Amino acid sequence: MKGLVLSGGKGKRLRPITHTSAKQLIPVANKPILFYGIEMLAEAGIRDVGIVVGYTREEVMETVGDGSRWGINVTYIHQPEPLGLAHAVLVSEDFLKDEPFIMYLGDNILKQPLSELIEEFEEEKPDALILLARVPNPGDFGVAELDGKRIVRLVEKPKVPPSDYALVGVYLFSSRIFEAARNIKPSGRGELEITDAIQWLIDNGFYVRANVTSGWWKDTGKPDDLIEANRLILEDIPRVIKGEVVNSEVRGRVQIGEGSLIKDSVIKGPVVIGDNVKVINSFIGPFTSIYHDAVIEGTEIEDSVILKGVRIKDVPGRIEGSILGNETVLLRRDKKPRSLRLVLGDHSIVELQ
Ligand code: DAU
Repeated sequence: MKGLVLSGGKGKRLRPITHTSAKQLIPVANKPILFYGIEMLAEAGIRDVGIVVGYTREEVMETVGDGSRWGINVTYIHQPEPLGLAHAVLVSEDFLKDEPFIMYLGDNILKQPLSELIEEFEEEKPDALILLARVPNPGDFGVAELDGKRIVRLVEKPKVPPSDYALVGVYLFSSRIFEAARNIKPSGRGELEITDAIQWLIDNGFYVRANVTSGWWKDTGKPDDLIEANRLILEDIPRVIKGEVVNSEVRGRVQIGEGSLIKDSVIKGPVVIGDNVKVINSFIGPFTSIYHDAVIEGTEIEDSVILKGVRIKDVPGRIEGSILGNETVLLRRDKKPRSLRLVLGDHSIVELQ
């Protein structure tokens, strides 16, 4: 079985973070989101993985490489326009050929071994096996209607959801899916929807089976989801201290990378701090990730995702539930007048008290 990871698309809902980088490469717990899916495929024994790339292809290729670090072979498949998930399947046909494959949406993180799904697919031999999760907001996703294990209907982001079973972005397909994708028309949002292609399979009498996930799953498409995914991943990290800790308290499950310095500070896990980070006279609270090269002085941070090279100094109050993009600078200014000075990129969000 081959793997197909979708890493094209535009990431509009994660602006401004995605103005300068692919949404699938944003680090969650200091690891690019895309790596979680690739790792899960590798752990399930998949050796040939195609990655669909679009506008951000160079960045994705540079970050992921040839797959050797996971012991897999990566083939990049160029999708010239993000015309939908079923379109991404069609542009991958030469790579996938007649083999069954497992498709993983590159902006999703889930905790369920994929090997169980592969075994179920091989035993039951459906034409599609779709992973579902029960969610409180099904209208934000593709939604499935079930009859036992059989899926009888699928709708993409319905106004009135027929159930609370959402499609979580993991699909196993036989090569029948190409015929299905060729037989559908673009949806209202102008995309060839994978849900419509699967519905075509159902309407033409093919067996589409459901598996409801027992673990957690997060679509990281929006800022709050990203912070929540960060929390969920940090729940399980081990304590690993490599950097230097001076006159500080480092409590619980905390990771501190090479070349980092924690001085006169309190770090309360779970927290991940990358390489060459400086934390001086600060409090870093639970569920925070700080990426490489950041410098944090005289500031309290909790429940946040801080990206590469960020500089924060003497910020009053506590920074909470925040995402700061690469090289962001946040300073307190003592000079008069006491006005706010902001240089914010397009689509930035600032909430003041
Ligand atoms: O997250 C689960 C949901 O993912 C499902 O419940 C929906 O049924 C499914 O359509 C999908 O909805 P989204 O609106 O979240 O899809 P999004 O546009 O975010 O694309 C998902 C991934 O696929 C993302 O990593 C970008 C990539 N992609 C997307 C499109 C439209 C491509 O590689 N090519 C594309 O043409």
